[in-house]
Amino acid sequence: MSGARIVVIGTGYVGLTTGACLAALGHQVTCVDVDDVKVARLAAGRVDILEPGLEELVTRGLAARRLRFVVGSRAAVADAEAVYLCVPTPMGAGGAADLRAVEAVIAEIADVLPAGCAVVTKSTVPVGTAQRIRALLGRDDVPVVANPEFLREGTAVADFMHPDRIVVGSDDEAAARRIADLYRDLSAPNVITDAASAELVKYAANCFLAMKLSYVNAIAELCERLGADIVSVTEGMGHDRRIGRSFLKPGPGWGGSCLPKDTHALVQVAESVGFDFSLLTAAIVENIAQRDRIVAKIAGAVGGSLAAARIGVLGLAFKAGTNDLRDSPALSVTSMLAAHGAEVTAYDPAVREALPGMTVVDDPYQVAKDADAIVVLTEWAEFTKLDWGYVADLMQGDGVVDTRNLLEPRTITDAGLSYVGLGRPRPA
Ligand code: UGA
Repeated sequence: MSGARIVVIGTGYVGLTTGACLAALGHQVTCVDVDDVKVARLAAGRVDILEPGLEELVTRGLAARRLRFVVGSRAAVADAEAVYLCVPTPMGAGGAADLRAVEAVIAEIADVLPAGCAVVTKSTVPVGTAQRIRALLGRDDVPVVANPEFLREGTAVADFMHPDRIVVGSDDEAAARRIADLYRDLSAPNVITDAASAELVKYAANCFLAMKLSYVNAIAELCERLGADIVSVTEGMGHDRRIGRSFLKPGPGWGGSCLPKDTHALVQVAESVGFDFSLLTAAIVENIAQRDRIVAKIAGAVGGSLAAARIGVLGLAFKAGTNDLRDSPALSVTSMLAAHGAEVTAYDPAVREALPGMTVVDDPYQVAKDADAIVVLTEWAEFTKLDWGYVADLMQGDGVVDTRNLLEPRTITDAGLSYVGLGRPRPA
């Protein structure tokens, strides 16, 4: 299917990246959204999410007439060969994924889909969703295919174009192969399987990553108690190819729009089939404990009590390279600080909006003014380039808590400040 006619429903971060990248692969892509203001902006080449390379791809797709943006899915799908569902699947009651948006789209398009058109799930959906969609569609001539995405925010375009693998699952093998063929210009191993396995791959991968991080954060805590250095420990671990070097950096906890939601959803899915996934539950609990430990560390840096302490926060996004605040550990930590009576001033290079419980400023040095302590919560490289001598002059206290082990400890101590990292011995 070279130059296939594809409809992408939902122009959030997954849908927009998928649509723009499929157009770049030579397909004719129509992106649909219910938000007419957003559609108009996108049709004019304006991308509101911070995603390197995405706006350029959208502009190129529009210019080449391989990409268009419309409101209303019924007309759009009329001659589609594949319809990608990229609508949100947020955390619903009890932690299970809320599939109402998926169901609403199916209800809307079921009777107008042309025969043979594949319905493809891109959003992370619970195992069994493909089957459920088939039932909702009530059509034998429309195959359902699970094709989970593995895009990271901040590197989504690169991840799409250079994937580690392409996973496509359907109970209709020919349909799965047709969808896999849409990506034939990408060089990556293809895993063609049944729908349930493809759906589970996504959860199994994200939850594994979350467990890896909870484990690393716990090892960092042990390092502190045992006088070891997490940087050397993870380096020593990472050289073992069975473990791998990536995803071994301790931090204020894992967040974002995916790992927290997916871990809860898999615990729920397991429970629904009578399996107590205590290993995964422990990773979630550890992730909450990590935030408590970070707050305690910050309290320690200001003499034990956060009441009326002035805390300057560097970084609010859930990780560097994005302006996404969804489930950001930085936001949990700042709101815990505020709840303990601290006065929080925060700066993030990608965040300008007003947020409750803190003053958001647009200059990193403003957070230092009269601060008792500075806390790095997101690993933006620009924080390493600050003039720390000037920061020290502006501050009232001398504490720097680096929850990302981003800064060079010596730079901080040379500026006359006191450095506290995560899982690292205090510099002499
Ligand atoms: C994650 C997965 O990495 C993607 O493969 C997946 O496609 C995506 O979810 C999704 O389901 O859509 P993302 O949420 O963009 O991607 O973020 P990650 O880069 O995985 O980071 C998740 C969290 O882990 C962040 O809070 C980050 O700061 C933290 N992290 C990551 C660490 O604390 N240490 C690390 O070494 C790596």
